[in-house]
Amino acid sequence: MGKSRRPLLVLFLVWALFLSKSSGAKTYKICSYNVQNFNVSKLDGLRILHLLTKVLSICDVCLLQEVRDLDGEAMKKLVSSLNGYNGFNYDYVASGGLGRGEEDKEQYVFLYRKQTTTIVDQYQYPDEKKGSEDAFSREPFIVYFNASQTVIGEFVLIPLRVEPEKALEEIDALYDVVTEIKKKWQVENIMLLGDFQADCGYVTKTNRRDNRLFGSLDLFWLIKDDADTTVTDMTDCAYDRFVVHGQTFLRGIVPLSAKVFNFKKVFKISMNEVLEISDHYPIHVDLKVKSSGQQQALLQPCIVLLTLITIVLFPA
Ligand SMILES: *[C@@H]1O[C@H](CO)[C@@H](O)[C@H](O)[C@H]1NC(C)=O
Ligand SMILES: *[C@@H]1O[C@H](CO)[C@@H](O)[C@H](O)[C@H]1NC(C)=O
Repeated sequence: MGKSRRPLLVLFLVWALFLSKSSGAKTYKICSYNVQNFNVSKLDGLRILHLLTKVLSICDVCLLQEVRDLDGEAMKKLVSSLNGYNGFNYDYVASGGLGRGEEDKEQYVFLYRKQTTTIVDQYQYPDEKKGSEDAFSREPFIVYFNASQTVIGEFVLIPLRVEPEKALEEIDALYDVVTEIKKKWQVENIMLLGDFQADCGYVTKTNRRDNRLFGSLDLFWLIKDDADTTVTDMTDCAYDRFVVHGQTFLRGIVPLSAKVFNFKKVFKISMNEVLEISDHYPIHVDLKVKSSGQQQALLQPCIVLLTLITIVLFPA
C-alpha cells in the first residue's frame, strides 16, 4: 500500500458522509402556522394561493390556526391547489367554530398528506366551566395520527391558540389535557403546538415559574425563546411553539430540526407578500423516518472504522 491510495480513501469517506447525510434528508415534517383570519377571500389573489401552496407543501401534517371557514370553501380551494402541485395528495380535518364571542368563531384545521399520514381518532376537548370561566378560549381539537414510516409510528397533536391576555393560564391548563389524553387513548407520544403567545410581555421568564407546562420534566420545548416567529422587524417574539411529551417522542425527532420557516428569505420575496398571508411565520420540525434511521445506523460505524483505518495505515 503506497501513499497514493490515500486520496481514494478520502474520496470514499466523503462519499460515505454524503450518503449518510442524504439518507437523513428524508424525514417527516410537522408544521404549525397561524394563518391570521383565513377565509375564502384571502385566497382571491392567485399569488397568495400559490405562495401558501408552496409553503404548506413542505409539511406532512400542518396545524392551521385562525381559520374562519365553516362552509369549507377556503380549505377546499387550498387542498385542490396543493393536490395539483408536485403530485401531492392532501386532505384535512377541521374543528367546528370555537371561541367565546358569538360573532368570532375560529377553527383549528389539520392539513395532512395522505401518502404518509392517516387519522386514527379525533376528539374535541369540551367547553367546560371550571369556576367562573372555562380554561380555554378555543378548546383544543385533538387528533391522533398514524405515520407508519416514522420511527415513533403514531402520535397525538394537541393544538392551542391562546387568547394573549390569558396566555399563561391557558398554557398551564394544557397539562390537564395531556393527562386526560394519555389515559383516554393510552398514548405517550403527544405534541402540543400552536400560537401560545409564549413570549414578549405575555409570558416572561419570571411569570412562567409556577407554570406546569414549563416546569414539567417530561415535557420538552423545541422552539427556543430566542426564536422569532413573527414577520415584521418591529417584533422579535417566540410566540409559536412545539412542546413534546415523553422521551420516546423526543428521541424520534431529528435533533435541532425545530425551526421557524422564514420563507421570505427562502423564496426571496418581500415582507408585504408574506404579510398578505399572516404576521406569523410557520414553524416546522422533523420526525425521524424508519429507513433513514436504519441506513444511518449501518453507515455510521462504517465511517468511524474507515477513519480509524486511515489514521492507522497512513499516519500524516
Ligand atoms: C374574510 O375576512 C375579511 C377580513 O376580515 C373580510 O373583509 C371578508 O369579508 C371575509 N370574507 C368572507 C367570505 O367572510
Ligand atoms: C398504523 O398504520 C399501520 C400501517 O398501515 C398499521 O399496521 C397500524 O395498525 C396503524 N396503527 C393504528 C393505531 O391504527
